[in-house]
Amino acid sequence: MSKFLIIYSTTDGHTKKICQRIKNFLTDGNLVELLSLEDAQKIDLSNFEKIIIGASIRYGKHSKELYKFIELNKNILNEKENVFFSVNVVARKPEKNTPDNNPYITKFLKISKWKPKKIGVFAGKVDYPNYNFFDKYIIKFIMFITKGPTDTSQSYEFTDWSKVDDFSEELKNNY
Ligand SMILES: Cc1cc2nc3c(=O)[nH]c(=O)nc-3n(C[C@H](O)[C@H](O)[C@H](O)COP(=O)(O)O)c2cc1C
Repeated sequence: MSKFLIIYSTTDGHTKKICQRIKNFLTDGNLVELLSLEDAQKIDLSNFEKIIIGASIRYGKHSKELYKFIELNKNILNEKENVFFSVNVVARKPEKNTPDNNPYITKFLKISKWKPKKIGVFAGKVDYPNYNFFDKYIIKFIMFITKGPTDTSQSYEFTDWSKVDDFSEELKNNY
């Protein structure tokens, strides 16, 4: 039995949903705590053996708070089994959905200087009806130029849940 901590950095909740799925998978046989990045700042990370951080992209970036958290906790993260994954919509494309070819993972590794022992990338969700006017039309434009869906009356979930389950299975067996 291992003690896992799963931390999510989310704006619209989709990364939390993916983390919840990973948690449900790992809970069978392990102790698993799921916390927001904000709440994770208030606890002692040394109580956990394995730490997983999932974070989403907004306008080309992971959040500043994520980088701050990693900078502050780099040493303790490196003492543990540690995992990072990113959630973004370019990952809906096969040529951008692995840690080696997703541009946001490349950028993350350059900026954070933390080398997670395992890295994942999952396609997120475009949730037009819940976006404000500005975001809705910017995302619609980005979708248009990247040949994605542009009907703003709909939500589009691109996440491949079997890929999330396979990732969780690897975490269960190898970490
Ligand atoms: C305002 C906004 C900006 C976004 N910018 C990007 C982007 O630059 N690149 C990308 O691949 N996905 C982008 N996305 C897609 C999000 O990464 C995707 O919706 C993800 O599921 C959000 O996860 P969250 O709900 O955990 O924040 C953007 C989404 C929104 C709403």
